[in-house]
Amino acid sequence: MAGSYKVCVVGGAGGIGQPLSMLMAMDPNVSELCVYDLTLAMVPAEGVAADLSHLNMKCKVKGYAFDKDDKAIEKAGECLTGCHLVLVPAGVPRKPGQDRKDLLNINAGIAKNIVEACAKYCPEAVVGLIVNPVNSVVPAMCEMWKKKGLNPAKIVGITTLDVVRADKFVHEMTGSPMSDIQVPVIGGHAGATILPLFSQCQVGKTLPADKIPDMDKKVQDAGTVVVAAKNGKGSATLSMAYAGARLGKAVLAGLNGEVVQECAYVASTVTDLPYFASKVTFGKQGVETVHPLGDLNEYEQGRLNALMPVLKEEIQAGLDYAKEND
Ligand code: NAD
Ligand code: LMR
Repeated sequence: MAGSYKVCVVGGAGGIGQPLSMLMAMDPNVSELCVYDLTLAMVPAEGVAADLSHLNMKCKVKGYAFDKDDKAIEKAGECLTGCHLVLVPAGVPRKPGQDRKDLLNINAGIAKNIVEACAKYCPEAVVGLIVNPVNSVVPAMCEMWKKKGLNPAKIVGITTLDVVRADKFVHEMTGSPMSDIQVPVIGGHAGATILPLFSQCQVGKTLPADKIPDMDKKVQDAGTVVVAAKNGKGSATLSMAYAGARLGKAVLAGLNGEVVQECAYVASTVTDLPYFASKVTFGKQGVETVHPLGDLNEYEQGRLNALMPVLKEEIQAGLDYAKEND
């Protein structure tokens, strides 16, 4: 039986937020959807909500717009109270020539306001962070969450777009049905920290060895390709909404008693790093199991060794942010 869950999309009037809100409104497990954004958003959050409220789906949709000041978050009570899942595509996207890590200060500040409001009004919710740089923002927000005595396993960095891309590129190269292709993507969500494990996919493992480095790089660079193609007008929005909804629906299915696996960037003990993306099982409590990496071939092991110091530094940047902004 379908569940009855309250979901909020923060940044819900933005490039990702609008299609993500639509896809979540279409999930039979969603009974209430809140579209939350700033009053200065391109489209009023109430307008996005009014539009979505006419879909012939069971869920009620309501919009909330807030001024951009610290006190505004105090008004978020009605919107966030009772939420089971909060998805956060609020934040600034990068421009050509920028790295995701260039967004840390501005976007961690945005995420901090939102995560503090979640801690206050919906401390049991799963909080899915899309906002970049995921590699640093997630550790920063988990630290804050822990300081409030809350469970950091509720904070999930959304890396599903890397999986979606890896699957699509394997399909394009092999012609195999999409349903046979599931490439786990581990590590983090920026450049070389993105590590697709083609050897762990029944179709991916048939790729010729000499094609793997280029395929690997194509997955790592896919976000930058979209940023360049949008020519200063943003980064991936539609594919991200699709990927974010896939993760959001997996979380809700888990809460509703199904056992669902996706890759996600979470507090982790499967490597020496405290945060890492790997396969995760969602269940009634949110993240239930963070799975070990499984067998890696020689190429993948070499890539893993090389990415660890890069990801370590990006995690540290997040931990430093949390310390400096305590
Ligand atoms: P956008 O500018 O189109 O939308 C962002 C929205 O967030 C805007 O509507 C803005 O008003 C809102 N916002 C800003 N501050 C807010 C606050 N304090 N409270 C509520 N809402 C607030 O940007 P976008 O293209 O949707 O991208 C959003 C973020 O997602 C960026 O940081 C981008 O880098 C990131 N992103 C991540 C992935 C991923 O794979 N994890 C993929 C694509 C984009
Ligand atoms: C992506 O992978 O598309 C996002 O992280 C956005 C970006 O800046 O590339």
